[in-house]
Amino acid sequence: MENKVAPGGVAHMQIGDKSVELPILKGSTGPDVVDIRKLYAEADVFTYDPGFTSTASCESQITYIDGDAGILLYRGYPIDELAENSSFLEVCYLLLHGELPTATQFAEFERTITYHTMLHEQFDRFFQTFRRDAHPMAIMVGAVGALSAFYHDSTNVHDEKQRQISAHRMIAKMPTIAARAFKYAVGQPFVYPRNELGYADNFLRMCFAVPAEDYKVNQVLAKAMDKIFILHADHEQNASTSTVRLAGSSGANPFACIAAGIACLWGPSHGGANEEALNMLKEIGTVDRIPEYVQGVKDRRYRLMGFGHRVYKNYDPRAKVMQKTCHEVLDALGKRDEPLLQVAMELERIALSDPYFVERKLYPNIDFYSGITLSAMGFPSEMFTVLFALARTVGWIAQWKEMIEDPSQKIGRPRQVYTGPVQRSFVPIDKR
Ligand code: CMC
Repeated sequence: MENKVAPGGVAHMQIGDKSVELPILKGSTGPDVVDIRKLYAEADVFTYDPGFTSTASCESQITYIDGDAGILLYRGYPIDELAENSSFLEVCYLLLHGELPTATQFAEFERTITYHTMLHEQFDRFFQTFRRDAHPMAIMVGAVGALSAFYHDSTNVHDEKQRQISAHRMIAKMPTIAARAFKYAVGQPFVYPRNELGYADNFLRMCFAVPAEDYKVNQVLAKAMDKIFILHADHEQNASTSTVRLAGSSGANPFACIAAGIACLWGPSHGGANEEALNMLKEIGTVDRIPEYVQGVKDRRYRLMGFGHRVYKNYDPRAKVMQKTCHEVLDALGKRDEPLLQVAMELERIALSDPYFVERKLYPNIDFYSGITLSAMGFPSEMFTVLFALARTVGWIAQWKEMIEDPSQKIGRPRQVYTGPVQRSFVPIDKR
């Protein structure tokens, strides 16, 4: 990656009797940043920013979010335009290479991904070692980490060709791994990928086909799946992406880094929220129970899952697309009267008008409608975060690749403000 950050002035900082000048840097859009790299050397202080609410950890040219305006761009293209007009594989190419592909480039990319979808046969036996009731995310963390043991020929991060092969392998194999995690949990035989099918069609078939009968992919569901993948493909420097970058900054192989990202994504404040949002809707159950539930949120007994976002202080643009997709899927499946949808719509209406949520800028996020949609498609809630991981893999890889190719890249090593005991002498156990 060519560094493009531009000079934009100087910030003055007074620390005790020391006066420090810090460069201000400009990106192509978004807030300027104060470059504090020399602060410790010049003023002997660190900055303190737990949760990184005011810290830019890297320069990136992949994804841009304006949380106040509710804007999300992949390489400059608005998410709703991509969801409406593009395909997940085209978006993968865009995220990895920076530009939309020409027809020839796309055909070649699609062929490469299609021909890497199979897993080593020995790898399939790896799944059998998990408990039969293992959470599919536990299987994902293990299985993706184990890829580095099978594809050692693409783990040299300093070799551009190997970086590319590992990227293609992960994008191609992730649906196969995710479908196997699902099949293993439901006790059905693994279904092999079919190369004549599209990415989303293939994934749905690997999840839902059984040897006892033919399976025809419902095109409304395949299109919805593809859109869901596009919406989740990347999201700037969120917790899991930052995990991938931090893991990768030590030179760790890409499979291990993506496994680290999956582990982080699993948390309920991040990718696990879609599972929690659906559980919440089920717990509420009926529209008449919403006021009581909302009161519990105001009493701070629990949070409204699927609402709020660290960056979006406006409607999550992904949630808008997701809401439409949700209605399309429920219509196609004849589930328009699904009670959970009624609860969701009423809850959304109340939250968007109730001062408690309005004042805190708590809008529905993508997870609010994705749970209902995926559930209607036949996925159990434990699979929701797996699908998120599948889709986010391309974003993680694009960000990892960008970091490796950034000339200013260093190993990630935050500092701390230490508040533990100061130096003291060891006391033998019989004297304590
Ligand atoms: N329900 C009720 N109150 C909330 C919620 C919520 N979901 N989220 C934030 N608040 C309140 C919070 O109590 C606080 O109120 P006060 O100022 O009175 O103390 C205020 O809003 C600010 O909250 P915060 O914790 O400082 O906000 P944050 O930016 O650190 O949290 C969040 C972001 C996503 C962790 C949080 O909104 C949350 O827990 N949401 C529910 C989980 C969820 O849906 N996560 C999915 C995020 S989208 C998928 C992804 O990108 O990973």
